Amino acid sequence: MTTESALKQYLEQCQQRVGAALEQQLPADSIQPQRLHQAMRYATLNGGKRIRPMLVYAAGAALGVTPERLDGPACAVELIHAYSLIHDDLPAMDDDDLRRGRPTCHKAFDEATAILAGDALQTLAFKVLCREEFAPFSADIRLAMLEALANASGSRGMAGGQALDLAAVGRQIDLAQLEIMHIHKTGALIHASVRLGCLAAPAADPEQVRRLEHYANCIGLAFQVQDDILDVEGDTETLGKTQGKDQANGKPTYPSLIGLKGAKELARSLRQDALDSLAALDGQADPLRWLADYIVNRDV
Ligand code: IPE
Ligand code: IPE
Ligand code: MG
Ligand code: MG
Ligand code: MG
Repeated sequence: MTTESALKQYLEQCQQRVGAALEQQLPADSIQPQRLHQAMRYATLNGGKRIRPMLVYAAGAALGVTPERLDGPACAVELIHAYSLIHDDLPAMDDDDLRRGRPTCHKAFDEATAILAGDALQTLAFKVLCREEFAPFSADIRLAMLEALANASGSRGMAGGQALDLAAVGRQIDLAQLEIMHIHKTGALIHASVRLGCLAAPAADPEQVRRLEHYANCIGLAFQVQDDILDVEGDTETLGKTQGKDQANGKPTYPSLIGLKGAKELARSLRQDALDSLAALDGQADPLRWLADYIVNRDV
């Protein structure tokens, strides 16, 4: 099997697994308040790539954890991600109309409903991790997972990164500041995805875990660098979100600071660094290797 078809098959398996878990966790849209539940489902069950869940499964697999044990953690990171996208698209933030090829949540519903849907998805993520039924680990491990996800989502993680992003609009920032912003707004949740997979393997060699976390830091930054590149040279139809919004919104990005060529070189070198940190891991880490390639080669 080629690497490309192996990745495709793995992605599809993970998408199906986490899709079923999300379907199970999200309240039915017939339950009151219906409009809120409809908005939560609309913004979650709508064809995202599910990269973060895939990282949970792939990091766990590298340490011998079966996917069945990771459906809850995979679902939890995707719920946080879905919430972050709803809020990111709001008029007060990036003011986007299109997400995953459909009207953004506040366009399909209304702003208040979108804000509440984000809030409720966030708390649902933590609820999933609390329950042994969905996160079949000791209470200590579940607590460590909750803490990792909370840190990655809050003011020292994604929400903090989003605050830096908004504060940088229309301003000149330097590369070091841009890196800090990207590491927080996107890298933190990607790092947490790998970390949740690692926490599920408490007997894992700490050196291997350290390598996996370094991998996560590299691909977390690479992911946002590629997102910035796609905003410049992707097309709206393929991306499912409006191309060119970063420039229109006055956002500092890697292409705006170091040019498209520089941004592509950086993404490639981060990919290499990520792969190097997996060198001592066996074939069970292959999905992580495929993912490092996918993250910098994707066109969506
Ligand atoms: C988009 O994330 C937002 C960023 C953090 C760059 P994804 O590119 O993973 O979006 P979906 O989930 O596939 O739609
Ligand atoms: C989003 O970054 C980061 C989040 C925490 C959601 P972007 O604003 O670049 O993501 P897109 O391009 O709208 O998906
Ligand atoms: Mg944004
Ligand atoms: Mg945005
Ligand atoms: Mg973007």
